[in-house]
Amino acid sequence: MSAMIEVQVTQVRQLTPVVREFSFAAVDGVLPGFSCGSHVQVLLPTAERTLRNAYSLLGDPRQNGIYRIAVRLQEASRGGSRYLHEQVKVGDRLHIGVPSNLFALHSQARHHILLAGGIGITPFMAYLAELQASGASFELHYAYRSGLTDAYADELRERLGERFHGYDAAAGQRLACAGLLRDKPLGSHLYVCGPQRLLNEIRTLAETQGWSAGRVHWEAFAAPEPGQPFSVELARSGQRLQVPGDHSLLEALEAAGVDVPNLCRGGVCGQCTTRYLSGEVEHRDHYLDEQQRGEALMPCVSRGGCSGTLLLDL
Ligand code: FES
Repeated sequence: MSAMIEVQVTQVRQLTPVVREFSFAAVDGVLPGFSCGSHVQVLLPTAERTLRNAYSLLGDPRQNGIYRIAVRLQEASRGGSRYLHEQVKVGDRLHIGVPSNLFALHSQARHHILLAGGIGITPFMAYLAELQASGASFELHYAYRSGLTDAYADELRERLGERFHGYDAAAGQRLACAGLLRDKPLGSHLYVCGPQRLLNEIRTLAETQGWSAGRVHWEAFAAPEPGQPFSVELARSGQRLQVPGDHSLLEALEAAGVDVPNLCRGGVCGQCTTRYLSGEVEHRDHYLDEQQRGEALMPCVSRGGCSGTLLLDL
């Protein structure tokens, strides 16, 4: 397991009925610095098992000493967000990983277009501090439902003025993605964070409108979706594992003491790439291409089929 830091919860704020913000300070020493767009893994010792969820770090990266995250309560979750919302209070101690950045700001861009859906606003809270401090050209488009998922909307509207564009689903307003991508200054970069359908729509539109892949950046931190239980065999050790429906393959491997490198735990970073030798795979990642999927899988999100055994090269 990568290095862990013990932190104490110094503040909890209920931002909306379903979004809570948590502030952490180091129990010993100083928290490492981070760049905007970074996330940390948080260990969540729920009653059933310890989950590791990834959350974006909010706020100005140049202000040391405190980390902040905002968490949306997911009704259909495996318990991580519920644990944070219902159990964690000021003074509690938690363990977190060191920050990693899979969603960095491209400082050479001539113009930055930020698109957030709901809790996808979180990485942009750090971006905005940096963009404003450097005087960069940018615009923020934020889709939310007022009174439910509109965390930070009032603050951002006031702070950003005409660079803030809000779309309130409760008022029937919708983010018109196609128009947003047209006629942007040369050298613009697009950043998207939000639900999967928003990411899919933007990526498809950007491609059809001729945006090069290097100018479109996106982040998805979805906890792995549950599925059917399946069985796995590790070819090198001969170990056999059963993966329950509400565990990811990565979690099952970790529980069995098998260390697999990982960062995002959401099928996007490529860190956990694992070769398999035989068996049926339900690929759910956003990283491997079709050819690579013939011999590798991402155990943080992908699963084996319900019949037969998946043989991993581990
Ligand atoms: S940990 Fe990032 S793709 Fe699996």
